[in-house]
Amino acid sequence: MFSLQLLSLALATTILPATLALKLPEYKALKTSLNSSVLTVTFHNADSPVNLWNQDTQDGLTDLVERLQHDKETKVVIFNSDVPRFYVAHLDLSMPSVAEPTFAETFATLIYNVSTLHQVTIGAVEGRARGAGNEFLVALDMRFATKTDTLFGQPEVGTGLFPGGGGSQFLPGLIGRGRAMEYILSSKDITAGDAEKIGWINKAFDTSAEMYTYIDQLTSRLRLFPLTALYGAKKSINRASAPTFKDIVADGISFRKQLADPLAQAAAKKSAALLANRSQFEVELILPDVLPLLYQ
Ligand SMILES: *[C@@H]1O[C@H](CO)[C@@H](O)[C@H](O)[C@H]1NC(C)=O
Ligand SMILES: *[C@@H]1O[C@H](CO)[C@@H](O)[C@H](O)[C@H]1NC(C)=O
Ligand SMILES: *[C@@H]1O[C@H](CO)[C@@H](O)[C@H](O)[C@H]1NC(C)=O
Repeated sequence: MFSLQLLSLALATTILPATLALKLPEYKALKTSLNSSVLTVTFHNADSPVNLWNQDTQDGLTDLVERLQHDKETKVVIFNSDVPRFYVAHLDLSMPSVAEPTFAETFATLIYNVSTLHQVTIGAVEGRARGAGNEFLVALDMRFATKTDTLFGQPEVGTGLFPGGGGSQFLPGLIGRGRAMEYILSSKDITAGDAEKIGWINKAFDTSAEMYTYIDQLTSRLRLFPLTALYGAKKSINRASAPTFKDIVADGISFRKQLADPLAQAAAKKSAALLANRSQFEVELILPDVLPLLYQ
């Protein structure tokens, strides 16, 4: 729908005074940088060579998302990582709050809150994104990646668990039910090139520079358009293709129950023993190859 009246109305409203730009605190495991209405958020867990999603990540994102829920200036949020070879390895299962009865539901609620932000959310991926890292990405509006060293996967089933934050519900909307079954049930990785072919990600690039040029061109358009229109369109697309709050939280509740499964606990013990002799970095690089060893 478009008309000249609408255009002149739009021009008139540009005279309204600008509201205050988003103010963000310093986060421990996230770096942020705001360029007028485009915010870049960088996953940076300084305590983990594989960029685990830890309590600081969880707390930082919770605060950030709450601020974005009340912000009317920011239009685009780009999520990347500055840890070599890892976007986000997965959830840090040793973080104390994982043992709390409400953790899985809280994590699932955060993923839901991310998926329903008014702003356009974009993943810019270099390195491995597995488990919570991939669940977060598939809840975003779009994903772009470099081809060289990027892998996506949901390794939970291989450890006796399953994704607990809606990842198994967002993924079929992107790649179809059969492929979601294949990747989630086998806990195998997919390369960025293959992920592009099946719709897991929007586009894969040879270099980081090419990826950011493409994202810049896209955001230079998005930043012009009214947030109310961007959000209205997002809401409609999500109505057709994204899980509801109830559905996502149901995953969290099932995940919490599965943590108590004796076979999941046996796999966790076996993986601790396996890690005792190897560096976590080395194992996480090739995680899907290591998972079958938990059953020998
Ligand atoms: C901010 O965004 C504008 C528009 O995309 C771009 O031209 C400029 O280089 C960016 N500035 C920084 C510091 O990234
Ligand atoms: C999700 O958003 C709702 C609504 O703003 C808020 O009340 C809740 O605390 C948020 N939950 C998490 C885990 O971020
Ligand atoms: C770890 O290394 C020690 C010494 O090399 C070896 O005896 C032990 O069997 C290894 N354990 C595992 C689980 O591979």
